[in-house]
Amino acid sequence: MEKEKTKNVENTVSISRRYFLEIVGGGAIGVVSVGSVVLTAQYLSPNVLHEPPLKFSAGLVQDFPPDSVTLIPDQKSYVVRAKEGYFYAMSGICSHLGCITGWKSEEGLIACPCHGSKFDTQGNVVEGPATRPLDRYSISLEDKGRLIVDKGNLVGQDHILKV
Ligand code: FES
Repeated sequence: MEKEKTKNVENTVSISRRYFLEIVGGGAIGVVSVGSVVLTAQYLSPNVLHEPPLKFSAGLVQDFPPDSVTLIPDQKSYVVRAKEGYFYAMSGICSHLGCITGWKSEEGLIACPCHGSKFDTQGNVVEGPATRPLDRYSISLEDKGRLIVDKGNLVGQDHILKV
């Protein structure tokens, strides 16, 4: 009878230890498996930056009075309407080191706050350190009088839109 009790106690301890080791071992294998699946999925998924489209609607023709320079902040672009009524579009990003420029109506210039470059309304450098004019973007007119600027399509300084 005494021997039987001891045997039962030993069996209980032995089963409990095995069960504990199974749980710990299974948990470790589970963590390693999930981690490797996550890492494999990250490795296989394309590392793509989702950027906004390069073509955007700048507004209606009548939104831009003649002889105006309008910065479209979220697109970092200018839409310029000349005195004569035609349009052109330019980058708002300084050609020196890429700061965002601003229109200074009192000076009639586009100025960069970083190192002081200045550009005229055509985007030409008036004052350095920038040496290159502001990039010109293609601009076109949609059916309903909407101006479409394409930042993915760089054009020459002679590109204008007559309306
Ligand atoms: S980034 Fe504009 S002047 Fe340097």
